[in-house]
Amino acid sequence: MWRKIFGGKEASVPTGDDLPSRSPVLCGDGLPRHIAVVMDGNGRWAQAQGRSRSAGHEAGARTLKRIVRAASDMGIEVLTVYAFSTENWKRPQLEVDFLLNLFDSFLQKEIDEMHAEHVRIRFIGRRDRFTDRFLRRMTDAEVRTAENTGIRLNVAVNYGGQDEILRAVQTLAARAAAGEIAPPEIDEALFSRTLDTADDPPVDLFIRTSGDLRLSNFLLWQSAYAELYFTETHWPDFTAEELARAITDFAGRSRRFGGLSEED
Ligand code: IPE
Ligand code: IPE
Ligand code: MG
Repeated sequence: MWRKIFGGKEASVPTGDDLPSRSPVLCGDGLPRHIAVVMDGNGRWAQAQGRSRSAGHEAGARTLKRIVRAASDMGIEVLTVYAFSTENWKRPQLEVDFLLNLFDSFLQKEIDEMHAEHVRIRFIGRRDRFTDRFLRRMTDAEVRTAENTGIRLNVAVNYGGQDEILRAVQTLAARAAAGEIAPPEIDEALFSRTLDTADDPPVDLFIRTSGDLRLSNFLLWQSAYAELYFTETHWPDFTAEELARAITDFAGRSRRFGGLSEED
């Protein structure tokens, strides 16, 4: 299996921390093109150590940085991470404020490095309820990295799968009402392109950390045929090695898409 994914170079699985020795190691065969991650468990990780939930979120942000780098080194084309859901506004105001400030300062601090590493950043989700400063930073990051040819990083903030689908329905309904398109033209391809993830391929591998076995409203349309991978590991403890394990697991599965497998 390692040979299949990593060309027999198990030892070269990147950790994300070893910048100088990094090299793109993987070939395309068996690799997921698009990986989605529900970065869950920051609070439980912190609680287990007797620390504040905020400390858990800070540790989670550091993990994100390592995993983006690792996924990029592994040759993943698109990584979509769930940072804040449309439901997370229900949390105590102090935690919501902390998270929004963390996103803002993370972006400010990390954008230069991500840009230098050719990451293309895009934010998916509703653009309301954010401060002007954060909105500007999001747009600046998207514009600045738009031409980058490396890994595409979608960060889901104020994101809900049902909300995204409804916004796409509204857009298409308005276009139909304006006479730009006829309703029968609304097929799966057009609908996919109208979602926030627009031209991205569908999700191949959907990972959720921290043990809960649910989707929590993440990428509902895009994950129609995703392979699911659940791990007990809390997000702050998630490593490049575990990402590689998830990919290995993925590569060993038989994806039939409703058809029959090659052996049948
Ligand atoms: C994920 O960790 C981060 C966000 C939802 C913003 P949680 O904060 O949900 O951590 P748990 O699930 O309470 O452990
Ligand atoms: C999903 O985690 C959202 C993010 C990771 C941002 P939650 O912790 O909000 O999900 P539930 O509440 O356990 O379903
Ligand atoms: Mg959670």
